[in-house]
This record gives sequence, C-alpha cells and structure tokens, in this order.
Amino acid sequence: MGRSAAGLGAALLPQGACGPGEAGEACSIVLDVEAGAALVVVWSETATRMTVTVATVGGIVVGRWQAGFGDDGIAVVDARDLEASTTYVAAIGLDDGKVMEPHGFVTAPRDDDARPVRLAWSADIDPDPAYDSPIFETLAAQGAEAFVSLGDWPYADNPPLPVTLEEYRDRHVLARGWAKLQPWLHGASVRAILDDHEVGNDWDAGTYAADPARHDAALTAWDEWFPRRGGGPRYQRWRWGAHLECFLLDTRSFRSSSDDVDGPAKTMVGATQLAWLLDGVIGSSAAFKLIFTTVPLDFGHGVDHWAGYLTERDAILDALAAAATPGVLFLSADQHWFGAYQHRLGAREFQVGPLARGPAPLPPLRPGILGRAREYNFGLLDASVDGLRVRALGAAGGVLWDETFTPADLTLRR
Ligand SMILES: [Fe+2]
Repeated sequence: MGRSAAGLGAALLPQGACGPGEAGEACSIVLDVEAGAALVVVWSETATRMTVTVATVGGIVVGRWQAGFGDDGIAVVDARDLEASTTYVAAIGLDDGKVMEPHGFVTAPRDDDARPVRLAWSADIDPDPAYDSPIFETLAAQGAEAFVSLGDWPYADNPPLPVTLEEYRDRHVLARGWAKLQPWLHGASVRAILDDHEVGNDWDAGTYAADPARHDAALTAWDEWFPRRGGGPRYQRWRWGAHLECFLLDTRSFRSSSDDVDGPAKTMVGATQLAWLLDGVIGSSAAFKLIFTTVPLDFGHGVDHWAGYLTERDAILDALAAAATPGVLFLSADQHWFGAYQHRLGAREFQVGPLARGPAPLPPLRPGILGRAREYNFGLLDASVDGLRVRALGAAGGVLWDETFTPADLTLRR
C-alpha cells in the first residue's frame, strides 16, 4: 500500500469542505499541456476514483473523464480534444468526498499561431520554512502560461535519506502538497524533469551502480508523480505556438560518472538523446529553440555540470554552429544563483533558481559570465513577432536581467 502521507498536517492544501469524515489529504497538478490536451494528475490518500470535468471560463463543459487511483495513490486523466490557445478550468471530483480546488490552464497555440506567449522556468523547491519568501506569489502574478521545472522538486534526499519507494513517495507528497505552491500551481500548467535531489545529491552512473535499488525506488516515485503522456523517455520536446519549440533534457538518467575523465566516451545525455536533440533543434521550424538543461553549460561549482562533460558539450555547440540554426538559447538551473552567460561560438545561456532553497556562494568571475545575482529567482520568457525577451525576477519581483533577442542574435557562429 503506497498512500502514506507522513507529516502532512498543516503543510498541505487549505482544507475544503470535506465529505462525511472519511476524506484524506489530496493534491493535484496539470502537466504536459499541448494545443489540444492536458494531463490532470491527482494524488489522494483515500479516494478510489476521480472525475475530471473541463469547462471553458464561460462555464461550457467540453469534456468529462474518469480514472481510478493506483496503489501509488495517483490518478491521471488525459483531457483531450481541447481547443488551442484557450483558457480552461478543470474541476476534480473524488469519491471520498474531498473537495479539490479547480485548476485554470491555457492550451498551447497552434504551430502557425504567432500570438505573444509567456513561459516561466526555475527549480529547487523545498518547503523548509528556512527558505520562505514571497516568490511563489510573485511567480503566480506573472501569468505565465506554463512553467518549466528543472528539478530538485522534491528535495527527496533531505535527511534521513529515503531508501524505499514508500519513503520516496512521502517526499513527493510533502513537496507537491505544500500550501504555498497551490495558488501558483492552480493557475498554470507544468513541464518537468528531474535533476539530482529527487534521487540523491549529484547522482550519476557511479552512484547508481553502488546502490541501484535505492535509485530505482526514487526514479519509480518520480515517474509516478510526473507521469508522461504515452510513457517514453523523460526528456521531451513540445511546441508553444509559432515562436517557441522547447527541448527539455534529461541530464541524469544517461550520464556517465561525473568523476570520469572527460573525452569522447563520457556523456551527459547519452547517444540517443543527443541525436534526438540535434535533429530536433536543427530541424525545428519555430523561431526560437529553447534548450532546457538542468545543469549549466559552464561556470558552476565542481564537475557535476557540463564543465565536466566539455567534449560532448562542445560537440553540441559545434553542430549547432555548423548548421547555423537561428534562435538557439540554453536555459538552466541547479547552481542556486542567477547567471547570464556567453559560451564559445556565441552560445547564450541563462541560469535561474533557487525558488526555495539556499542561494549558493558564487565561484570566481570568469570571462563569459555576463552577470550574476545570489538570491531567490525565476526566469520569464516572452516570445512575439518582436523577438524573445528574457527576464529574471527576484522573490519580490525585482528585475535581475532584461534582454531581448532576435533569432539572428541567437545563432551560434564559428
Ligand atoms: Fe537545487
């Protein structure tokens, strides 16, 4: 039985009007929204079935779906046949009588629709009160249509380090159900990838080999809590209108040990994902190709990021320069400060986070570091016919960076 809810208590959602005294805790999220579909994912302590009703903001019901809860306490509905660029409300009914807060979400524009769009991205969510700030209110106020989560949500490896699947699941309950997140999570959809702390600090092929059972438990829990339409690999790509195509890399599941000597045999993403990335980016018809990598291309601490995988990183940059693909931008997190970077061949990158975890000390300045800020932050991406505007905002909304690019500005050149 996989439905424990250790220590939930006051940390979870504001209680709605519950049923006849039997309803347990529950929390929900909308994932992987496309032009015509949205995944509604619910965890419940006690329910056995849910009904998801999707309606327009004007109250017209466009569909109703049912799903059962598994032993993991998760139920998933893929709401389909939705209209593009439309705001919907998803109401969730549970058979234990728990009343859930509805979700508002916006479907993606069609690939040929050039209307302005706004996405947000960041990482690092730990409900420990030590990291409290107004950042989630600030994030919710931006009205981003979707949020890209670059991992460390949850910090599953906070002590005591989980061992079993049950223990890893409990960490997801705490991090997903955190009351502070709910106003934001109920107004936007999420695309997510894991980084290291969902499993263990800086995990890689070496730590996996030393303790496969624990790593498998952690990955199983993550897959349950971030289900993917159709299964398949954790890395994914999706369009958001005419301007944006997003490529969300899995930099953990296929990586060599960080301590291996750099060279052709050392990989961050694996050969299959690497080919998928280059084919996808070079072949994309979107004005901007956003490459989301949990770890930055350089300028971080140690070798857990691409600085320890420079051979493969440079092969990616060389291929993009050889193709002269316009509109390529790298977006990262992980290091716990904001950074604006320029790499070889003119590649540009913005590193954001943390949302709710301690900002980290800054390593020494190096050429290519254009700016940094050691505070809670997230990134905003506004794409329109005028270009791609990238901003980084602090917890109270202070602007840490504001720069606008044309596709030509973001073309890697030899
Ligand atoms: Fe983190």
